[in-house]
Amino acid sequence: MTIQDTELLYLPADLKPELLPHHVAVIMDGNGRWAKRQGLPRFMGHKRGVDALKDLLRCCKDWGIKALTAYAFSTENWKRPQEEVDFLMSLFQGVLRQELREMVEENVQIQFVGNLPALPQTLQDEISRSMEETKDNRSIKFTVATNYGGRQEILQACRAIAHKVEQGILKPDDICEEVFESHLYTAGISDPDLLIRTSGEMRLSNFLLWQMAYGEIYITDTLWPDFDRNEFHRALYAYQQRERRFGKV
Ligand code: IPE
Ligand code: IPE
Ligand code: MG
Repeated sequence: MTIQDTELLYLPADLKPELLPHHVAVIMDGNGRWAKRQGLPRFMGHKRGVDALKDLLRCCKDWGIKALTAYAFSTENWKRPQEEVDFLMSLFQGVLRQELREMVEENVQIQFVGNLPALPQTLQDEISRSMEETKDNRSIKFTVATNYGGRQEILQACRAIAHKVEQGILKPDDICEEVFESHLYTAGISDPDLLIRTSGEMRLSNFLLWQMAYGEIYITDTLWPDFDRNEFHRALYAYQQRERRFGKV
């Protein structure tokens, strides 16, 4: 560990603790390009991407950020070659099994959002176990969006609400923002204050469409496996220079 790394164990002095985002979300993009640049197969980029995520989670804990959400697999990612999809599913399962003990010890609460019943059963079992074992942990809320799509999330909320109206549990006029939000996968999780996307792409790719209504967006050209504490520092610094107006003057 270099001197600089040691310094980054603590919140950098030019960041104001009172202006930290409560909830940071990340679109972890660029694993494939990272691998290609190193002359490696794409799956190596995904493996290195896991290391970058582990360090970001630890960094959020070290610096006092209370919620982190990571986009791990979109509903559109099923369109990738079967080999890559299979690799990602077994990577998620393996990492979860390997890291659960540490997450329990570090008081991390892990949650998954997305269309989970469509995931392989073995992965679903690992997901249920990890959520159950960490449900009372409070140091940080770590949410992994897996088989997640913002449009699908909104549609399933509409369907669930429509069923309740049909059954007389809800009246159409009861459907306000709070009721709607309570039917999203992210019910109980605050909206992200800051969304970071790596690898330079300037789009949401179906991520948190409802929740990002007023979230700040930060885009860096750095590829996800290279995203480190220095990069995160830059993103937080940029965030703290912004004025969040929420429509006011
Ligand atoms: C993000 O990296 C990881 C997932 C979508 C699972 P990519 O695999 O999209 O990497 P690029 O965009 O091809 O470089
Ligand atoms: C978004 O990245 C999904 C994840 C990071 C899991 P993609 O690489 O799938 O997004 P597009 O295809 O470039 O929009
Ligand atoms: Mg990509």
